[in-house]
Amino acid sequence: MSAGKKLRLGVNIDHVATVRNARGGAYPDPLRAAKLAEEAGADGITAHLREDRRHISDADIDGLMEVLTVPLNFEMAATEEMQRIALRHKPHAVCIVPEKREERTTEGGLEVAREENRLAHYLAPLRAAGCRVSIFIAADKRQIDAAHRIGAEVIELHTGAYCDAHAEGHFEARDRELEGLREMSAYAHSLGLEVHAGHGLNYETVKPVAAFPEVMELNIGHFLIGEAIFRGLQSAISEMRRLMDEARDG
Ligand code: PXP
Repeated sequence: MSAGKKLRLGVNIDHVATVRNARGGAYPDPLRAAKLAEEAGADGITAHLREDRRHISDADIDGLMEVLTVPLNFEMAATEEMQRIALRHKPHAVCIVPEKREERTTEGGLEVAREENRLAHYLAPLRAAGCRVSIFIAADKRQIDAAHRIGAEVIELHTGAYCDAHAEGHFEARDRELEGLREMSAYAHSLGLEVHAGHGLNYETVKPVAAFPEVMELNIGHFLIGEAIFRGLQSAISEMRRLMDEARDG
């Protein structure tokens, strides 16, 4: 695949479900948010069905598969239960993420190198079912090489450390993280992997990552759902889209 094409925006709707679940009812509905996101220019919808179902539910995944006109990127841990669910739905893409029960969010990338054999076997039926397999990893050559060896088509680089360093005002560390992301995007692309990125991105941090020509998709959730409180979901997404396009064109 070639670098430099239009950058896709995947909108992660997990935290619409977080707000809904705070009251245990049906409002606000993540499916309604997904449809609005489509109208606002999202190129895909991302949802993470966690083992503990703390936000997205099984019924949300059923509904998303029914109503979406853009691709669903189904984030999941590499467990048997999630494999069964993915094989039942056959979403456009599955993104394998590490998951720890006690974490607040996906803290790090997947340790692919340590689990190479298990993951290669795990992914085979998903690939055979036609799902694009993406692996969420740190910008680390060892992990990229392992993801390539186990047959992933896509890697998603974890931008969390870069965004955290920015938020904490550690600008040297932030720039080092950004440089690592830049180098590893180019490296992964040179192996024929499609490169995505995400985690913690906001209006201040998105442009440098969006400017990497090898990055084809950004997945952004928490900030957009938070910003929607102040300006509405469609406006929040349109502004992100504008910044991404500006970074890409300029
Ligand atoms: N990409 C992956 C693989 C993720 O696990 C997450 C968080 O669920 C995101 C992107 C989006 O991160 P955020 O919600 O911080 O924008």
